[in-house]
Amino acid sequence: MIQWTVSNRVVETRIETPTEVGTLTRSVPEGFYKTILDSISDGIILLDRDGYVLDINAAGATILGIDRNWSRFRHVSELVDFRPVILDVLESEQGYIEREFILHSPSRGRLHFIKSAIVIRNEEGEMIGVIDTFRRVDSVHSMIARFTGAKAKFCFHDIIGKDPLFREAVQLSRLAAGSSANVLLEGESGTGKEIFAHAIHKESSRGNGPFIIVNCASLPISLIESELFGYESGSFTGARKEGFAGKFEQANGGTLFLDEIGEMPLDMQAKLLRVIQDKTFTRIGGSKEITVDLRIIAATNKNLQEQVWKGNFREDLYYRLNVLRIHIPSLRERPADIPLLVRHFLRKYALRDGKPIPTVDTEALRLLSTYSWPGNVRELENLVERLIVLNRKSQIGVNDLRPYLEASKKGAGIGSSQTASTPVDGLRRLEALEKEEIRKALSICSRNVSHASKMLGISRNTLYRKMKQYSISHDD
Ligand SMILES: Nc1ncnc2c1ncn2[C@@H]1O[C@H](COP(=O)(O)OP(=O)(O)OP(=O)(O)O)[C@@H](O)[C@H]1O
Ligand SMILES: [Mg+2]
Repeated sequence: MIQWTVSNRVVETRIETPTEVGTLTRSVPEGFYKTILDSISDGIILLDRDGYVLDINAAGATILGIDRNWSRFRHVSELVDFRPVILDVLESEQGYIEREFILHSPSRGRLHFIKSAIVIRNEEGEMIGVIDTFRRVDSVHSMIARFTGAKAKFCFHDIIGKDPLFREAVQLSRLAAGSSANVLLEGESGTGKEIFAHAIHKESSRGNGPFIIVNCASLPISLIESELFGYESGSFTGARKEGFAGKFEQANGGTLFLDEIGEMPLDMQAKLLRVIQDKTFTRIGGSKEITVDLRIIAATNKNLQEQVWKGNFREDLYYRLNVLRIHIPSLRERPADIPLLVRHFLRKYALRDGKPIPTVDTEALRLLSTYSWPGNVRELENLVERLIVLNRKSQIGVNDLRPYLEASKKGAGIGSSQTASTPVDGLRRLEALEKEEIRKALSICSRNVSHASKMLGISRNTLYRKMKQYSISHDD
């Protein structure tokens, strides 16, 4: 029988005599071990004490790109074209668990593994072999994505709207899903840029891979580089000992969604351009080139072309991102979709709260259809959610809407780009009002940005951007 001994995170096993049960000697039939070995997705190599391969499982042969039968009884150093790190274990007789290794193979480039090594000893305590288990870190990232929710949540089915201009945007996005080209989503705040990005990723051939979101507006400038590119161990004070895989590595095999790309500082734009062109980069403090396979979807509520003219955005990066440009129309450009969206959200929130779905009378629907919706679909969704939570009536009338729409008018279209055409004085007044509303909301919500953004009917991203624009800090 094999007994596993775990001590100090170093794993060893000792081979002992089979258990005697009565007069019978019981042992596990050989086929069991083979089936177990082959059902594991990590690579496993069983080595004797001199480093000769006793067996390798199917996953191991696939990961190393070798033939299983060919490799049996060969020395482990013949299996790969770099120095196998397991040789150190054979020498030191010290195993380990889940250690990260970055190895360089002349034929396959940089290989990033998580490995464990288990030393096997006989009854006398002498090492008789080693079990070497390993997995590629790329697969670890997609596993992390599976377990941490770095997955797309919406598909095209969740996108509501019949307006021809809007359907054109959906149609273009479906075409984008079928290709690997970079996508630039443009639209005012709350028009659905993020939901489109989810859907494009989910319907693409990378749909099962990670969907990693980076909000360029909410990342402090000092952290953008390490967040995107990661760092090697000990590259700066406060860096994690084992290093850190940045968003580019995390998104390998999937999609990187760069939200609020217009807020990316110019020097980072240059670095980003290089990764987009070559799909290679190095971690901070590292020297190895890392190659990634990902698609970039960027989103902005600014007019990027205008930012290019003003010198705030690199022209070359703009053209790289702009391979497929999709403009999502604002809600006031598609008023016919308003009743549709109202019904959709009434149903969604009534079902969530276990309430009957109310109807909306004609006059109320007219009012909703003529309102300008500066916060677009997000604002409308917010209003409907409040109606469901606060109202008990089976039919919603104009009077139920007034308090909300009037308050919203006073808030003067937070998140709206409509204000751009207002005369200067009016604009200043609106900005002052907006600032005031943001301060108030942050104070009511005890500086919690998520809660405050909900209260204001704008996204967290927009609120961060506005806070930056008006120099409102978290503890103002
Ligand atoms: N066409 C749509 N159908 C259903 N829900 C939508 C639609 N468009 C937007 N929404 C909903 O509206 C809300 C805001 O959408 P989203 O976050 O995608 O907007 P955004 O354009 O990214 O806004 P911001 O620029 O402020 O980040 C989300 O809850 C989203 O699910
Ligand atoms: Mg967004």
